[in-house]
Amino acid sequence: MTVSGTISELHTRLTATRARKTAGTIGFVPTMGALHAGHGALIARARAECDHVVVSIFVNPLQFDRSTDFDRYPQTLETDLAMCRSHGVDLVFAPASAEMYRTLPTTRIDVGRLGNHLCGRHRSGHFDGVGLVVLKLFNLVQPHVAYFGEKDAQQLAIIRRIVTDLSVPVRIVGVSTVRDPDGLALSSRNQHLSPAERALATALYEALEAARRAIGEGTTDVAAIVSDALRQVPQVADLRVEYLEVVDPVELQPVDVVSDTVLVAGALWVGTTRLIDNVLCEPAGDTP
Ligand code: PAJ
Repeated sequence: MTVSGTISELHTRLTATRARKTAGTIGFVPTMGALHAGHGALIARARAECDHVVVSIFVNPLQFDRSTDFDRYPQTLETDLAMCRSHGVDLVFAPASAEMYRTLPTTRIDVGRLGNHLCGRHRSGHFDGVGLVVLKLFNLVQPHVAYFGEKDAQQLAIIRRIVTDLSVPVRIVGVSTVRDPDGLALSSRNQHLSPAERALATALYEALEAARRAIGEGTTDVAAIVSDALRQVPQVADLRVEYLEVVDPVELQPVDVVSDTVLVAGALWVGTTRLIDNVLCEPAGDTP
């Protein structure tokens, strides 16, 4: 496994890979490090489907709306590299911020209405920063296929849309959310939770599951679905629901009445840690 910290070294390595007769497909998994089994599922899928697997580890300052979140984002490069090695990754790109942004970009990616709801409404500029770094990484790595988690459903929908809108020649693959046995979606931010907070953190998944049950049983009124789901969240000082919304899964616009597949997504503050999760729900009578 090669680890490149600079763009020129990445370029040299990838040029050599592409020049090989057996080059085949390049699969790419962009990450911010602090790797866990959720990232592992993306990497394993890339390993199974592609000849050459590239992982990037870069905590992108442009997508953080709160400097405290950026400052305390876990940095675990050595264990991340060990995990990449154990998954058979070929190349890790782990640049410093000054290498990625030698000059601060003045170009902007504006994801438009796809960023107006869910996390986008609460994290100003977040998805513009994600779009910019992902496009930049695609240009640097030039993969055939890139893997993203359904855990970040709005991010995945926005990246699919950018790729379509701008005819980016990369196939996007979504990978199912990896969860702890009690339902909590794995996240790099889970490590900030105290044992008491960890016990409360499943409330978000329970709320989403309640919504899925209600929709599956035929409830179509979104206001009723949401208020029922919110009853799953204990009224304690350490928990605050930032949002729980029902949107269509492509345009990410709110729906009032469920008549087709919907995305139910939420963000929950547990103490000072913000967790997100989502489920895709089929209305009653629909076969998935
Ligand atoms: P990061 O949060 O490190 O996540 C990297 C990828 O892992 C994303 O595609 C995310 O959806 C996926 N992932 C995280 N937790 C997961 C889980 N429990 N199950 C399945 N997949 C999971 O998302 C980012 O980084 C950044 O925004 C990035 C795309 C790298 C751009 O900076």
